[in-house]
Amino acid sequence: MRRPLVAGNWKMHGSGAEAGRLIGELIAINAGGGPAEVVVCPPFVYLAEAGQRLRGNALLLGAQDVCAEEIGAHTGEVSASMLADVGCRFVIVGHSERRALYGEDDALVARKFVAVQRQGLVPILCVGESLEERERGATHEIVSRQLTAVLGMAGVAGFGAAVVAYEPVWAIGTGRTATPAQAQEVHSLIRGRIAEKDATIAASLRVLYGGSVKASNAAELFAKPDVDGGLIGGASLKADEFGRICAAVRK
Ligand code: PGA
Repeated sequence: MRRPLVAGNWKMHGSGAEAGRLIGELIAINAGGGPAEVVVCPPFVYLAEAGQRLRGNALLLGAQDVCAEEIGAHTGEVSASMLADVGCRFVIVGHSERRALYGEDDALVARKFVAVQRQGLVPILCVGESLEERERGATHEIVSRQLTAVLGMAGVAGFGAAVVAYEPVWAIGTGRTATPAQAQEVHSLIRGRIAEKDATIAASLRVLYGGSVKASNAAELFAKPDVDGGLIGGASLKADEFGRICAAVRK
């Protein structure tokens, strides 16, 4: 059985005061206390304080990005060991905004994936096609290519301690969600690609859907057999909305 997982990606929103308030509200509604494993990913500078407040809490902490290098002269970067140090358990790697706006390619994403695992943290590997790629029928090709890069560097064993998030780029922050059938189709492709290498790992791999998930559409997405939860952007910034998404997972 795969335990559902719901992760909130706060992106570059809020302030220290707002982050503190949101963490407090999520603790108050016991966001991590239900059937789903629940993770919040605040901006880097708020992680340490969030980590202190969440110590011993069922709500888990994640980061939005990481440096692929372990240590050294990398001005402005944050290493996986630093993230572990402040209490992170998960790290998002390869988010489409990193790929599109900050030039991250498949090889760099794969190195980040490995760097995260080396510190005993769980990467949430984001994959997904752009609108143009979907319209020319390249969705499977793109998602397979993104997975292959990580398989090549981490091996299939890496997926035994990882989470994959399918995030069609055209659905992120647009209010245009993939239909449950569209999500299921790609989720099943992702699981199938891993199953070609190792059926047991594929069966236990959690594949999240991300892209305009809201409390009003979460249940129908999460009801699909290969959708094991969600990676939530905008709707993770309001505790009640995020709490309702967490409650929408399959029991
Ligand atoms: P969204 O973002 O829920 O605001 O569409 C999802 C994401 O980028 O992870």
